[in-house]
Amino acid sequence: MERKAKVAVFVSGGGTNLQALIDAQQKGIIKSGEISLVVSNKKSAFALERAEKAGIKGVFVSKKENGGQEGFERAVNEILDAEGIDLIVLAGFLSILSPGFTRKWENRIINIHPSLIPSFCGEGFYGLTVHEKALEYGVKVTGATVHFVNEIPDGGKIILQKAVDIQDGDTPEILQRRVMEQAEWIILPEAAEMICNSIINQEE
Ligand code: GAR
Repeated sequence: MERKAKVAVFVSGGGTNLQALIDAQQKGIIKSGEISLVVSNKKSAFALERAEKAGIKGVFVSKKENGGQEGFERAVNEILDAEGIDLIVLAGFLSILSPGFTRKWENRIINIHPSLIPSFCGEGFYGLTVHEKALEYGVKVTGATVHFVNEIPDGGKIILQKAVDIQDGDTPEILQRRVMEQAEWIILPEAAEMICNSIINQEE
């Protein structure tokens, strides 16, 4: 059997996108990769509990205890190298990685963003804020984007996008849930499978 690409999922919070990846692996939607590691920059992230429940190794890496961003990334790189990780999936990882880190992992980091890039993205646009801004602006369609991560926040090459309608009476919370259900939880596993597949096929 072909080898599977080893995937590390980076999280900061609830981890519903991590759950979508775990479920997709169990259903065989992700078949070219295996989730080998979950890395959180928040100790209390519920995502770490989801990892444990699924039998996946989860680690919390503290920026503070490692003396800041550089130390954090050095510690993370040591763990990723030790585990032989091929692909990093940012799934609700709400911290910006340095250009040094994104260059080391060029074309090997993907991110899910809860809007149709290039709308409502870049520094300061994360989580619920993205949906607040979309509603404030009055757009009628939003969605989600999976893209490669480079040194420009939300600026890397787009892999998949899916549109979601905005409805009368939407609140940021209602819209966030709809974007997750109708777009994020679908396109993130699809994109992860596509990239894992291309990684293992490059090796042949
Ligand atoms: C998701 O909506 C994800 O797209 C967003 O944070 C949420 C995390 O939820 N990410 C960003 O805004 C990145 N800029 P989750 O922890 O339940 O997956």
